[in-house]
Amino acid sequence: MGRAGRRRDPDGAPPSLKDSDLAVRRMPAIRVIIFNADESFAPTLRATLQTFDGVKIVAEVDEPTLLPQAVRQFPADVLIVHLDPNPSALLATAGEVATKHPDLCVFAVSDSTDGQVILAAMRLGLKEFLTKPIDPTVMAAAMEKVFEKRTDHATTGRLFPVLGSAGGVGATSLATNLAVELASVSGGKVAVVDLDYRFGQVATFLDVEPVYTIADLCESPEQLEAQVIERTLVRHASGVFVLSRPIHFTQADNITAAHCVGALTALLSMHDYVVTDGPTRFDMGAKAVLDIADCSLLVMQLLVPSVRSTLRMVEACSRPGSISTASRSCATGLDVNPPA
Ligand SMILES: Nc1ncnc2c1ncn2[C@@H]1O[C@H](COP(=O)(O)OP(=O)(O)OP(=O)(O)O)[C@@H](O)[C@H]1O
Ligand SMILES: [Mg+2]
Repeated sequence: MGRAGRRRDPDGAPPSLKDSDLAVRRMPAIRVIIFNADESFAPTLRATLQTFDGVKIVAEVDEPTLLPQAVRQFPADVLIVHLDPNPSALLATAGEVATKHPDLCVFAVSDSTDGQVILAAMRLGLKEFLTKPIDPTVMAAAMEKVFEKRTDHATTGRLFPVLGSAGGVGATSLATNLAVELASVSGGKVAVVDLDYRFGQVATFLDVEPVYTIADLCESPEQLEAQVIERTLVRHASGVFVLSRPIHFTQADNITAAHCVGALTALLSMHDYVVTDGPTRFDMGAKAVLDIADCSLLVMQLLVPSVRSTLRMVEACSRPGSISTASRSCATGLDVNPPA
């Protein structure tokens, strides 16, 4: 089995961060878009995918009409279409995507074992038909085939979101310091992104003046080109590339979870590490970011409100298939200094 798609330790225990983790180690990634209109199946599907190393869910769509746009917007290797409860209707949509995007491997997941449905899926160009309950070894073999088939063996950096469990606990200090330290210790290419769209202070902490911001990246519904991203970043003296929060409050209103994940996915394809300050709310947007994170850092202060919020956030993260079963989460009270 290749490097991507390898199954994680089944007990789900998060490995600890070691020095060796900080060496530049870009993961070969399989980026997955999920189509699933059945909320009750979402945690199972997510949890199954999250047991594989190097598999990243970059988008989840529950409306067939939104699927073509998601496929255009998010660079991905695999589209998994949950066909139930209406396999014949969704097969047509999946087939259209498979025809339009021959490089995208489309997998179907269904309860159905009807030979006609499976044959129709194959004729429409779908690569795999996975019957429920999904057998992890079958899924692993399917992912492995995707990885072997890829000619670019594109890699992806690692995403470390830093979340505060209350206001003023030091999330921005930790995010900016972490980015600067990572650049220094690893020698890799590092970006820090301000996801506090309204009151973010990453640019202030690093004393850089952005011309463009995350709002400019989020204006385009299509996949982002490397040159566009590079123009949007400001280089800090430490070598860290900074993507700032929007300049105006009103621009923040237009940034959706999909925009944010699209921008982060693009940044991950160009950097060894991406650190985010935020997400600042524990909402659907945050969930989308935490879903693609490698290690989420949760900052708390030893004060009752902060500890209580931390417990709730950790509890939310530990439900099977929910936000960050794929991520390593740790509550930290690090002693950090403002970056030079
Ligand atoms: N480990 C620390 N020890 C002491 N003071 C700290 C520490 N980390 C940050 N601070 C100070 O606490 C204040 C708030 O820090 P920071 O802005 O990083 O927090 P935040 O969680 O990002 O806040 P906000 O909720 O406003 O975004 C700053 O004055 C900062 O210098
Ligand atoms: Mg902050």
